[in-house]
Amino acid sequence: MHTLLVTGGAGFIGSNFVRYVSAHAPHIRMIVLDALTYAGNIANLDGVKNVEFVHGSITDEKLVDSLMSRVDTVVHFAAESHNDRAITQPRIFFETNVMGTLILLQAAVKYDVRFHHISTDEVFGDTALDSTEKFTESSSYKPSSPYAASKAASDHMVRAWVRTYGLRATISNCSNNYGPFQHIEKFIPRAITNALCGLPIKLYGDGLAVRDWIHVEDQCSAIWEILQNGHIGQTYLVGANCTINNAHVVNMLEEILPQYCGEQKITVEHVRDRLGADRRYALDPHKIVEELGWKAKHTDFRKGLSQTVEWYANHQDWWEAYKPDVERSYANLGQ
Ligand SMILES: NC(=O)c1ccc[n+]([C@@H]2O[C@H](COP(=O)([O-])OP(=O)(O)OC[C@H]3O[C@@H](n4cnc5c(N)ncnc54)[C@H](O)[C@@H]3O)[C@@H](O)[C@H]2O)c1
Repeated sequence: MHTLLVTGGAGFIGSNFVRYVSAHAPHIRMIVLDALTYAGNIANLDGVKNVEFVHGSITDEKLVDSLMSRVDTVVHFAAESHNDRAITQPRIFFETNVMGTLILLQAAVKYDVRFHHISTDEVFGDTALDSTEKFTESSSYKPSSPYAASKAASDHMVRAWVRTYGLRATISNCSNNYGPFQHIEKFIPRAITNALCGLPIKLYGDGLAVRDWIHVEDQCSAIWEILQNGHIGQTYLVGANCTINNAHVVNMLEEILPQYCGEQKITVEHVRDRLGADRRYALDPHKIVEELGWKAKHTDFRKGLSQTVEWYANHQDWWEAYKPDVERSYANLGQ
């Protein structure tokens, strides 16, 4: 691997991955292709060396063709990624997540480029709250939301391109990420920034929905491991065995946040849940651990959460300009 195309590299996980590669393999040249939608931020790449930034869309065939001809590997993060938006604006999710992936796959076949596709555990749907089931690589696809359906479609396409065209591809399905540079529309950064602004932390529904959390740096090290040693045609589930319900995450935040909030009281408000919300995600990362020897480093969730709170408290200039718009959009949804 000498030249890497990173789609969506100005988003949350993409920019963390670019930083990870830059730190661990400085000899690799990276091209970031990002449309800089509301979720992308060029400032996420400030100070990173060995990166060429291209402002454009994965749905632009000519642009994708020319970039693909210059690289030997692509890691495909670019997506519309927010479940709540997918409910009100599903079309853009299919244009980006499905049609954009199609354009990338065709160009990757043309230039015989190694392809790694980033996906989500949400393709498997959910399990009951009292279940102990964990998703594995052989769990059936049962997406419940428009976002998950679009990601499921893209996973199927990658597998079809491996079988039909001999594309050298792998897939990783990851659980919920947290850490620096995550857009403040998402649950944990929204909760932190609400508290820092003196607004109530919003908790969806009864707060009992369970998510399986992984620190974004662990997600990046897993992708890196797959690029080095993953087997072509294989899928790897990436998780850190950290299932916690949302109310519990909020309780931890209530304990961590006071030192950053001065006199402001931290309050919590229950808001209506999103339509069709999944109850519980849990995934089994055995395969990547056993086959590739990958291990999560951030196994203490509370510590990772404290570091994340500290990051948002110290990077107010990164998020405060967007805060009113994000809260206005949620208010329109009654959340
Ligand atoms: N965040 C999570 O917890 C999580 C968990 C599992 C999987 N994933 C997957 O990881 C990937 C990255 O997620 P994220 O949380 O970093 O998302 P994000 O929304 O923070 O970033 C997405 C990036 O893609 C860019 N983008 C959107 N449309 C584009 C287009 N047409 N062309 C080029 N760039 C475009 C955006 O500008 C943004 O920079 C996604 O594929 C998502 O499905 C995310």
